[in-house]
Amino acid sequence: MNPNVPDSDGAIRYYDGDYPSLELDPPRAGAVQRLAAIGLLGDVAFYRTLAEQAGGPVLEIGCGTGRLTIPMARAGAVVRGVDSSAAMLDRLTRRLDREPAAVRGRVTLTHGNAIGLDPGAFPLVLLPFNLLMLQHGAGTAERLLAAVVAALPPGGRLALDVMNPLTLSAAAERSGIPSSPLIDPWTGASYLKITLAGPVDADGEQLVHGWYEALEDGERAILTDFAFRWRMIPRPRLERLLSDAGLSIEETAGDFDGAPWQPDSRRTVVVARRTG
Ligand SMILES: C[S@@+](CC[C@H](N)C(=O)[O-])C[C@H]1O[C@@H](n2cnc3c(N)ncnc32)[C@H](O)[C@@H]1O
Repeated sequence: MNPNVPDSDGAIRYYDGDYPSLELDPPRAGAVQRLAAIGLLGDVAFYRTLAEQAGGPVLEIGCGTGRLTIPMARAGAVVRGVDSSAAMLDRLTRRLDREPAAVRGRVTLTHGNAIGLDPGAFPLVLLPFNLLMLQHGAGTAERLLAAVVAALPPGGRLALDVMNPLTLSAAAERSGIPSSPLIDPWTGASYLKITLAGPVDADGEQLVHGWYEALEDGERAILTDFAFRWRMIPRPRLERLLSDAGLSIEETAGDFDGAPWQPDSRRTVVVARRTG
């Protein structure tokens, strides 16, 4: 979701059901298929490996409910998680409370954005799971990347992933097809997510919205709705944004296992280095 969405937004309430954690939640039938369907299978291992190699504290911008933060801390990384949503950070804190003291001690959380945060202190900065796409509007992604570069020492690394807009499935989403049944790990309740996507405008921006329905005994009842805007980042735009910010790309892949990027890759996964 975008920075500063209200706590009442359904995408916050149902985040951990929408994006199940194989590491943090009880095992659920269908969780692997759900992650594969949205192109997220393998992102935890990818970011965790980079964090283990970082040799210093990791800054995760948009840490959300800790889907990546806690596995990285479990692996020994010291992580500073920043998020603009107090409600998402509250979930992360509740998850962290279940961890051993050593893991809890490696995580520091900040409510807000990363602008002005400890210059040069983080040899690895992460913008995971479409974070850069959520910075829509003129100059917003550029400002965030300037903050990333300020947080990195010279030679420090940025890792990120965004959806590949060439694979946008707008036709299905415009008709509001329900998800497969999902489970909220906080309550155990089943629900459906119905997503609709508007047209992509001339700036590459799209409004995505929809609602959640309870699923009990085959009955469907609307619970709450959600909405966010994002801006498409085709690979050439990403390359330009990074280069203009002073970052040099080391690797570009089409998934989290390092498959070469192709026009039909689900994601664009990049590791870049601060040049100056
Ligand atoms: C898609 S979620 C990703 C959460 C987590 N990294 C994960 O992979 O599950 C995006 C998160 O980024 C936060 N966010 C979006 N823009 C932000 C910004 N400019 N600064 C801080 N947090 C931001 C949102 O509040 C949300 O919690």
